[in-house]
Parts: sequence; structure tokens; C-alpha cells
Amino acid sequence: MAFPKNFLFGAATAAHQVEGNNTKSDYWAMEHIPHTSFAEPSGEACDHYNRYEEDIKLLADAGLNAYRFSVEWARIEPEEGRFDENEIEHYRKVIACCKAHGVEPLVTLLHFTSPVWLIKKGGWEAESTIEYFRRYASYVTEKLGSELKYICTINEANMGLQIAAISKRFRLMAEQKAKSAKDAEGTVQVGMNFEKMMENMKFAAMENAQIFGTPQPQVFVSARTPEGDALVFRAHQAAKEAIKAIYPDIKVGITLSIHDVQALPGGEAFADAEWNEEFAHYLPFIKDDDFLGVQNYTRSQYGPEGMVPCPEGAELTQMDYEFYPEALEHVIRRVHEVFGGELIVTENGVAVSDDTRREEFIRRALAGVESCVNDGIPVKGYCYWSLLDNFEWQKGFSMTFGLIAVDRATQVRTPKNSLYVLGAYAK
Ligand code: BGC
Repeated sequence: MAFPKNFLFGAATAAHQVEGNNTKSDYWAMEHIPHTSFAEPSGEACDHYNRYEEDIKLLADAGLNAYRFSVEWARIEPEEGRFDENEIEHYRKVIACCKAHGVEPLVTLLHFTSPVWLIKKGGWEAESTIEYFRRYASYVTEKLGSELKYICTINEANMGLQIAAISKRFRLMAEQKAKSAKDAEGTVQVGMNFEKMMENMKFAAMENAQIFGTPQPQVFVSARTPEGDALVFRAHQAAKEAIKAIYPDIKVGITLSIHDVQALPGGEAFADAEWNEEFAHYLPFIKDDDFLGVQNYTRSQYGPEGMVPCPEGAELTQMDYEFYPEALEHVIRRVHEVFGGELIVTENGVAVSDDTRREEFIRRALAGVESCVNDGIPVKGYCYWSLLDNFEWQKGFSMTFGLIAVDRATQVRTPKNSLYVLGAYAK
């Protein structure tokens, strides 16, 4: 049996990484302080804000039937309590464009970036953020909900704990001076420049204080405390309630960054602890959700001493982690054992310069997904990360995850063959 007819085959982006000029956001501010940890600022990014029609058309022409993107809180509510109708109109047009091309829009409310004002008020460690997020979710749903079947409240809600863990690993490595910073960076599924961040810390603290009123702003991707971790999930629950109160039929879920956590002999306890931290302890918060967005890029392995480096000779991606598309199937099967709802692969992808490696990655990852579907696991869709080569956070534009190349100087789009490889599954 192959994929069902209504299976969602799509590609994903996030507002800040592709739209350009997200000037009211915390990331924009952090990109522009003198001692920034960002390799470069996001600038006009892929100018997707103005070129979304071209991008959605390329996606649809290749055969894809879903587009996952995020709406930007810092645009929609640039100042506390001031909601911008024009920005809602913008996203209404993006959704209409999807529909005109037979593409299902999967909308994410928060993909890492927040308005500066929210961070000034304590950001993702402050109790008040739950109510602010609920109000924003309610506003977006009221305005756009009639057009939507799916909403992801928060992208990679577990990222703060992963960052806390990598900061700890990085400090240990630095102390031992045994390993380079690169090894630590490759253990997180997102673009971070830890070495630069540590060097800059003292100066950046003063500069942050000027912008956010605190030397250690709690942005979404800051190292989270256990209380902050729970707060993020309570914000998800509040947003879900707000959405359901307006449109009960919208399917609501959260997305998580989940490694394929593997134990080598003697590493079982470490692997169990990691699985619990990355996924299992969230179950009480998400067990009644309509779906879970699974985001996976690679595996991590544990031995008797803890996390072990990639196997000798393994192929590495530009992100310095292992090219290992089989991870996705393992994660789906393991998550399904305990999570009863539907699953959507909201992100899976690879940063490589040789596009034939991306084609290979997609084929192997989808073979795994297909096998899960054939076994009756309710996987409803697969969104490749990313539609476009884009702004990979602190790593700037150096990582090429895209199905479509973007010329930085001219913004000209060039589809890669992998776009058509993925599209062929949908056709
Ligand atoms: C994030 C994306 C990011 C991608 C690749 C995920 O962590 O949701 O924003 O670009 O992985 O690192």
C-alpha cells in the first residue's frame, strides 16, 4: 500500500527566516547589537513577505499539497495590545494564495520569534506570557480561523531545555578543553553559534540590558528553567482553549524537536533520561491534542559515559550532525507507542550543498514514513524543512536546507531537483 490520497506532502518555513525585515521582533534586536552572536543579520531574508505568491506557486507546481508557515506575532501585535489589521490582511492573502493553488495551509503561531515588548515583560519565564499568548492566539483565530484546518501553537516547544542541556555540555567541554565548540553545536537540531555566544557574553549582557531591560533576556530559545519549560506548555494549552472556543473543528497541536535517541550497551540510563527530557515528560500537557508535530533531523547515541560522538566515518551535514534519515521512522514509531493522536511530520530535512544527497535523504526518510503508515500509524503528513534556502538563525544564510535556492543578491529563485523528487510522491 502506498500513501493515502489525502496525505499532506508539503514544505515548511518560518516567518523570521524567510519574510525579511521583522523589525519589531526580539531576534531582529539581537542580530543588531554590537556583540551579536549572529553570523549576519536576517535583513530582507528571502523577501518572502513580498514574494510568497511565487514561492507557493513553485511549491504547488511541483505537486506539493501543503505549506507550513508561521504568522509573526511581532508584526501582528508590534506593541502590547495594539493589533495590526494590515498584517492580518497580509496573512489572509497568503492563506488565500495557498487555497487558490490547492495547497493546505498549516499555520504556526509562534516559531521562535517574539515581539520585543513581550521579552521586556519577562518573556518565556514570565507567568504573564501565558495570557498574552492566549490573547494573540484568540485574535489570530478570530480573524483567520475560518480558513484553517490546522494550527500549530508553538514550534519546538522543547527547544529551551535542549539549549539548557547544550549550554551545560559546552561549558563542560570548554572546561576540559578536550573538544572543540563545534562538537557541542552539532548536538542540537538548530543553528547556534555557541563559541561566539560565550565569547560575547559579557558585552552582550550590557547591550541586551539596553534593549530588553535585562542582561539575560528570556527569548524563546534561551536556556529554560524547569518552571519556564512548564510555562511554555501551559501557554500552549491556553492558546488551544482559545482556538477551540472559536472554531472547535480546527485541529490543534504543538511541535517538538525529537532526536532518535539510541542507547549503546551500557548507555540505557542516559538514553532513557534524554528521551524523558526531550519528549516523555511533556505527555501530560499534550495527551489530548488533536495532533503532534514531529520534527526530526538526526539521531543521538548514548554510551556508558553519556552522549557519544557520531560514528567514525559517518557522513555529516552542514550542521555538523549525522546524515541519518532513518531517524524519522524510529521517532514516529516510538512516539506513537504513547501518544494516541495523529502525527504530522512538521519538519524533517537536511543541510547539504550536493542536492543529490537531499534527494537520497528524502527518499529514505519517506520510505520510513510509508512503512509507519502501512502499519496503521496515523501519520497524516510530511513537511520537508525547508521550502527555501533561508536564515538559519545564528548561523545566518550559510546552511542550505532548501528545496529551492535563493540568490542573496537578486532574490532569484532556482528550484532544485529535490523539489521535484518530493513533489513526485504527491502526484
Ligand atoms: C527549527 C527551524 C530550523 C531547523 C533547522 C528547527 O529546529 O524549527 O527553524 O531552521 O530546525 O535547523
